[in-house]
Amino acid sequence: MPVNYDIRDGIAILTLHNPPVNGLGIATRRGLVESLDRACADDAVKGIVVTGGARAFSGGADIREFNKPEASQEPTLPTVIEAFEGSAKPVVAAIEGMALGGGLELALGMHHRVAAGNAQIGLPEVKLGLLPGAGGTQRFPRAVGLETAVNMIVSGTLVPAAKLASTRLFDKVHEEGVVDAAIALCQQVAASGDPLQKVREWTIEHPNPEGFMGFARTGVAAASANYPAPLKCLDAIEAALGKDFDAGLRVERDAFAMLLGTDESKALRHAFFSERAAGKVAGLEDARIREVKSVGVIGAGTMGGGITMNFLNAGIPVTLLELKQEALDRGIATIRRNYENSAKKGKLSAEQVEAHMALITPTMSYGDMGQADMIIEAVFEEMGVKQAVFGQLDAVAKPGAILASNTSTLDVDRIAQFTSRPQDVLGTHFFSPANVMKLLEVVRGKATAPDVLATVMALAKKIGKTAVVSGVCDGFIGNRMIEQYSRQAGFLLEEGALPQQVDRAMEAFGMAMGPFRMGDLAGNDIGWAIRKRRAVESPEITYSRTADLLCEMGRFGQKTGAGWYDYAPGDRTARPSPVVDAMIEAYSAEQGITRRRIDDQEIVERLVYALVNEGALILEEGIAAKASDIDVVYLTGYGFPVWRGGPMFHADTVGLYNVLRSMRRFANGLHGDAWEPAPLLVELADAGRSFN
Ligand code: NAI
Repeated sequence: MPVNYDIRDGIAILTLHNPPVNGLGIATRRGLVESLDRACADDAVKGIVVTGGARAFSGGADIREFNKPEASQEPTLPTVIEAFEGSAKPVVAAIEGMALGGGLELALGMHHRVAAGNAQIGLPEVKLGLLPGAGGTQRFPRAVGLETAVNMIVSGTLVPAAKLASTRLFDKVHEEGVVDAAIALCQQVAASGDPLQKVREWTIEHPNPEGFMGFARTGVAAASANYPAPLKCLDAIEAALGKDFDAGLRVERDAFAMLLGTDESKALRHAFFSERAAGKVAGLEDARIREVKSVGVIGAGTMGGGITMNFLNAGIPVTLLELKQEALDRGIATIRRNYENSAKKGKLSAEQVEAHMALITPTMSYGDMGQADMIIEAVFEEMGVKQAVFGQLDAVAKPGAILASNTSTLDVDRIAQFTSRPQDVLGTHFFSPANVMKLLEVVRGKATAPDVLATVMALAKKIGKTAVVSGVCDGFIGNRMIEQYSRQAGFLLEEGALPQQVDRAMEAFGMAMGPFRMGDLAGNDIGWAIRKRRAVESPEITYSRTADLLCEMGRFGQKTGAGWYDYAPGDRTARPSPVVDAMIEAYSAEQGITRRRIDDQEIVERLVYALVNEGALILEEGIAAKASDIDVVYLTGYGFPVWRGGPMFHADTVGLYNVLRSMRRFANGLHGDAWEPAPLLVELADAGRSFN
């Protein structure tokens, strides 16, 4: 039963029971109205208390229903709220854990509210490109005041109930005994016979509401250029300032319906579900999770240090190995410096810094790795070095220990063969800086045991990563795709664009950084090394030589003070470089290419569709299990705009037919050989279907 019904001391207690967060799906909504009607029909019942137990009053609407008929099936949430508000017997909400979104709107429809001080309160709909559509924009300002309501609704911020204790929202904020307090209050109200309080009848007190709304509008417009929802929230709240409550509700509902249909909201909801779906790997449902209480990390360089910090932050001790004392000391000093910088910013206390550092056991002996439940290798990117490391790990690691490689390009199946236990080996591809970036590609080898994969997925969650499973291939999901994107960026330079134009177009599309600014940040020499290797392994793949010429000029990026752009000492501002422009133009001339004006749309389409086409191949080959996994990789690791939902979702939004048509046009241009459409893309486009 989604709603349990009890009677205590003349009060009906309605307890929501729809784990994990009492989402307000259709069954729960029906249960609520039926229980309310039952209580109202029973003369022995004087009032009603609604609670959700200790974990959650309610996390809100069931967003899985949003695109389904269930969402509009009666009783809808507004109907449920009206039923409670119109109840002839007093209704008190007893809020513990959280009252979010529709959950808070439900409580706002009740006559009184009692909350635990630490209960999370908020209307986070805006984060899904929506607004509170069940009266939240109308009742919340009446309960907490205009300014607090605007700030919370527009940002989707959650606050502890204690912070709102002085507002009319709560009658009482209690540390414990919330349900008992609610029952007592309900009895008192019932006995008084006073008219029942309805939030809809309250007025919004503010000295200058028009002035405040104008001020809010300017700020919100500037901060939410690509998102229509925040301004719509303001429209709805503004309507709450009028006298007619029901007219305000209509404005809110129209705005909600409008937002539900926007590409931005669809993309944000896609991103939300995709991230959750990435953690659910088919076939692992029954896998046993191995316990990981201690971790070993081999290599204390850029990646090893960052990887180590993830575990320390989660309270998991790390044994950190380097071959030389100097390298070990340097690695540990870097970790300490990072923590001390966080402490300076007030994010950590001095004690926390020491507590984290105390979890590291530095070593130069592989023998010390014997007790680790999982060992992650982050040494130089050379097969010979990896072979030596995995051979040694095989000799010392305890049976059942998980052995992981952080390789970004090497074959994880080959690495597994350097051990006698390939079932325990997999790739954990962290992104730099590894202590900051949320994405983790978990690379499943041919032999990787299901429980090893399941354990690492669970561990990733524990250390706050968004993990996506990738099969074995060069570059895995993210880097394999970015290579096609970079190739197109290079070709565009030859054909007529300049780095600053390409970057500007991609940043206007919404990428956190254009490809050339990104190259300067990461170091252009990394791609150079990869291209040199490829030139030997796959000579048939063509690249623009411009990036190589740049590196031959010693322009590796920010670290050398010059890359695609010029940099003043100590300043990361990218300034267009006449030297680079001249190099590019000379190269075009040398290739006999007549440079042409290239518009921003072509730039965006060529770069993004290059991602999409490679993504389609990745899906076809089973490297990624679902298109949404690819989207998650790009949203969390590559700065793809969330409001476009990821490259595959973006292609779906544009329409695969249209994507394919553009690709066929590019195939007729210079460098057209890079545009062989993936068979899966053609198949889906022909069938009028989409990736997601
Ligand atoms: P790095 O050069 O900063 O660090 C490598 C460390 O390993 C050095 O401190 C070195 O002394 C140590 N080392 C070398 N051989 C060793 C051995 N046999 N035993 C113990 N320690 C040894 O390199 P970085 O950038 O940290 O890369 C490490 C791995 O992570 C590589 O496989 C790389 O491809 C991968 N990776 C790098 C990313 C990056 O952005 N830098 C991103 C994702 C993966």
